[in-house]
Amino acid sequence: MDSPESLGIDTVLQHYAEENQPFGAVVPPIYQSSLFSFEDIDDFAAALSESPPGPPFFYSRIGNPTVDIVERKIAKLEGAEACKLIGTGMGAITMAIFSVVKSGSHCVVVDTCYKPVRQLFETMLARLGVTATFVDGRCPETVFEAVRPETDLIYLESPSSILFRLQDIEAITAFARQRGIVTVIDNTYSTPLYQSPLAMGVDILVHSATKYLAGHSDVTAGAICTSAERVAGMLKEEVNFLGSAIGPFPAWLVLRGLRTLSLRLPRHESTANSVVGWLQDHPRVKGVNHTSLADFEQRELFLKQMKGSAGLFSFELKDGSEAAVRSFVRALRLFKLGVSWGGFESLVVPVLMHPLDWPEPRWVIRLYCGLESPDDLIRDLARGLEAVSNASA
Ligand SMILES: Cc1ncc(COP(=O)(O)O)c(C=O)c1O
Repeated sequence: MDSPESLGIDTVLQHYAEENQPFGAVVPPIYQSSLFSFEDIDDFAAALSESPPGPPFFYSRIGNPTVDIVERKIAKLEGAEACKLIGTGMGAITMAIFSVVKSGSHCVVVDTCYKPVRQLFETMLARLGVTATFVDGRCPETVFEAVRPETDLIYLESPSSILFRLQDIEAITAFARQRGIVTVIDNTYSTPLYQSPLAMGVDILVHSATKYLAGHSDVTAGAICTSAERVAGMLKEEVNFLGSAIGPFPAWLVLRGLRTLSLRLPRHESTANSVVGWLQDHPRVKGVNHTSLADFEQRELFLKQMKGSAGLFSFELKDGSEAAVRSFVRALRLFKLGVSWGGFESLVVPVLMHPLDWPEPRWVIRLYCGLESPDDLIRDLARGLEAVSNASA
């Protein structure tokens, strides 16, 4: 194979970190073993004390050969020195945050981040003496103004959950670096194919690999991508103490999903763009929140720091009542009512949102376009919107 440095992204997805499998297997085996034994006590003692990210493996809570392949591949895709794969995206996020904060730390957090992350700051971290200021984040100054002498961490999610607001990653990381503040970003929406935050100065990047990376709605997984030094520290503390290890089989499912990532994403994107184009013209629709729109309010920033938008967006009905939202959702057949996204199936989830800049909460409907035929999805949405008009007639 060519030098790993020069491989294109599609070749990385298929082959990187998978050389020399036993018996010439083209698909790496699942090392379904909780522990690894040693011939020599010195080697055993060294493995335990060094707790390395790769071989020698000694215990699958810390490292496993199947998991290691996926970690090296995701690290390569994200341009990270190292990656640690965890049992869930929330596990990865919690470990990333815990690796930075201590009692007395202050954090600046994007207010429209994934809701359980916000709740983590408001509950567990608050109990441990970690405070947080939630900011809009669309304008970097809102982040800068919230920073205090005791700020240790800035938490970004760009685009953010449900409303898909962007943060200027380069501006914020430049500011943070000057002050020794660690930046963490959730890159789940974009995947390494559509946004490279580490190259823009972010210190720690996290994924819910449950979504596009695995891509088949059959596994939960999370990934932390950062420096080798930070991962080594997390292996000794957060990964070791908080557990939440990923098993070899779920990791193998992520590996299988990664093979088609670069085929799936553009398909989700073109379907979502067709659906959004149709929705925008519908008389029952008030507005669509989608990063790919030509009139997206942060269009310039989108073009600067992202390469694509994939299948996720949200919209509001003109009739913003809960009853209208319920009628819409009930009438859908193809869009399944459920959390998560990133798999083959289209999904809908209504969310009552109350970001900092809205005086009142409003119902927002998040749609995820799977791999079905776009015309069928549009017909399904037409059925939903028809039900709204019937209900309010
Ligand atoms: C943006 C984002 N980040 C993180 C998570 C958490 O990931 P997981 O469900 O794998 O724990 C989710 C889950 O929906 C998400 O949407």
